[in-house]
Amino acid sequence: MSEADSRARHVAIIMDGNGRWAKRRHLPRAMGHRQGVEAVRRLVRSLEGTGIECLTLYAFSSENWKRSEDEVDDLMDLMRKFIKSDLPEFIANDVKLHILGDWRALAPDIVAMLEDALEKTSGGSRTIAVALNYGGQAEIVHAARAAAAQGEITQESIEANLFSAGLPPLDLLIRTSGEVRLSNFLLWQAAYAEMLFVDTLWPDFTPEHLQQALDDFTNRERRFGGR
Ligand code: FPP
Repeated sequence: MSEADSRARHVAIIMDGNGRWAKRRHLPRAMGHRQGVEAVRRLVRSLEGTGIECLTLYAFSSENWKRSEDEVDDLMDLMRKFIKSDLPEFIANDVKLHILGDWRALAPDIVAMLEDALEKTSGGSRTIAVALNYGGQAEIVHAARAAAAQGEITQESIEANLFSAGLPPLDLLIRTSGEVRLSNFLLWQAAYAEMLFVDTLWPDFTPEHLQQALDDFTNRERRFGGR
């Protein structure tokens, strides 16, 4: 396989461990999430030169509504601030925003900000895909229903109706903080993805950790079921 073939084009991350990061420092959980946003920012800024065409981030799952009202409010506020402060940088850096999940069910002001951001970044060449109010099982149900309404249910017709339609195939899925499970993230897309579980808590994850993950990926042999 050539160097280009063995490069990860699409990387997804389950950003876990914000709460534990804060707890270890006797800080409120909100501080962990705030540092988590800093980690996102560092990574987005470091993408150039990595070969990554799409970075997908699990920011809010459909199960996250079960958290306390205060924590959900904190996360939504961080989202508002992040879009407001970082949208100009996305545009300047040729980054295109993509969203996966039932994001239109979020607060109307966030939906409006996201619509604006999608429009303003639509010309970008590198994609940041953010999973918001996302659940993998619900995504597959939604895609299968849409496929059935259009005609035959096939692997291709389901794939064409997933939130990830149009993104490159998922190459590498990383989860931080030592937990080893998918938590309903990209269940369909992960069929042939390489998985990497690292102990680092999300707020401590740096571009160097990402580069290590990419090097690790390049050294793996992917057979897609063949020999
Ligand atoms: C998991 O940590 C993290 C989340 C549920 C939210 C992830 C969100 C961010 C990093 C910030 C928002 C992102 C953007 C793009 C603005 P946890 O709270 O489950 O940690 P714990 O398992 O240690 O308690």
